[in-house]
Amino acid sequence: MKLFKHKHDASQDSLLHGVALITDYAPMSRVSEEYKTLRTNILYAKADDPIHTLLITSAGPSEGKSTVSGNIAATFAKQGLRTILLDTDMRRPTVHATFGIQNNFGLVDLLTGEEDNEKLQRACRQTEIENLTILPCGPIPPNPSELLASKRMTRLLKGLTNAFDLVILDAPPVISVTDAQVLGSRADATVLVVPYGIAQKSMVMEAKSLLDQVNANIIGVVMNRVPASERQNRYGYYYDAYYNNDGKKHSK
Ligand SMILES: Nc1ncnc2c1ncn2[C@@H]1O[C@H](COP(=O)(O)OP(=O)(O)OP(=O)(O)O)[C@@H](O)[C@H]1O
Ligand SMILES: [Mg+2]
Repeated sequence: MKLFKHKHDASQDSLLHGVALITDYAPMSRVSEEYKTLRTNILYAKADDPIHTLLITSAGPSEGKSTVSGNIAATFAKQGLRTILLDTDMRRPTVHATFGIQNNFGLVDLLTGEEDNEKLQRACRQTEIENLTILPCGPIPPNPSELLASKRMTRLLKGLTNAFDLVILDAPPVISVTDAQVLGSRADATVLVVPYGIAQKSMVMEAKSLLDQVNANIIGVVMNRVPASERQNRYGYYYDAYYNNDGKKHSK
């Protein structure tokens, strides 16, 4: 029996191939411009108290968390901020696939076994994007919630915030497992991804309430998958060619 009725099933596509980094391959596109606006909004969300750890999550699966976290990480890095993107989705990891590396060593290895600097150096991988490092998930563990809630995770995050200007956490969905709540209680700020026409209001409200319970600092919502017809009035002048937010270029 299904507890929730999803209009939108979990996508296998990003699990296999990663997500589209439009901000990297089409930096002048309308979508990339919107990511720059998002970056500015995040930077000014807590003007007196800069954000060092940013959690990206959503109510349910396949709503665009990895796409938003990868692209916002690339956008911050391109601005010159030393940025690290952590794959904290230990159930459906994709960061390695997005950046074309193996997922055989990563965050999970740093949270288990010996704790040493050599492992940290090995797990954190510089990408082709200047200033952008990634920490892939590593082999899927049997106990993600426990690992993410561990003191070692707290220590690791602290160490990474000293080494980088910004730590971005690509998280699992809020509803159904506690991982995102655990991370939300530790991150300086949380952004909820809400896909237009797909997200159900009750689910988004439930996700917000679960994050509120752990005092997560929700600084805003990213609404993605907004159809071109809904945006045309605002962004009409960009429309000699447009990107449909799926990374593919479409002509008019
Ligand atoms: N704005 C968008 N427009 C169209 N397709 C999108 C958009 N954002 C993401 N997608 C597609 O939706 C699928 C799921 O995206 P993504 O992997 O970013 O979601 P997710 O929330 O991280 O999923 P999961 O719950 O598995 O971690 C992918 O195939 C991706 O290419
Ligand atoms: Mg994901």
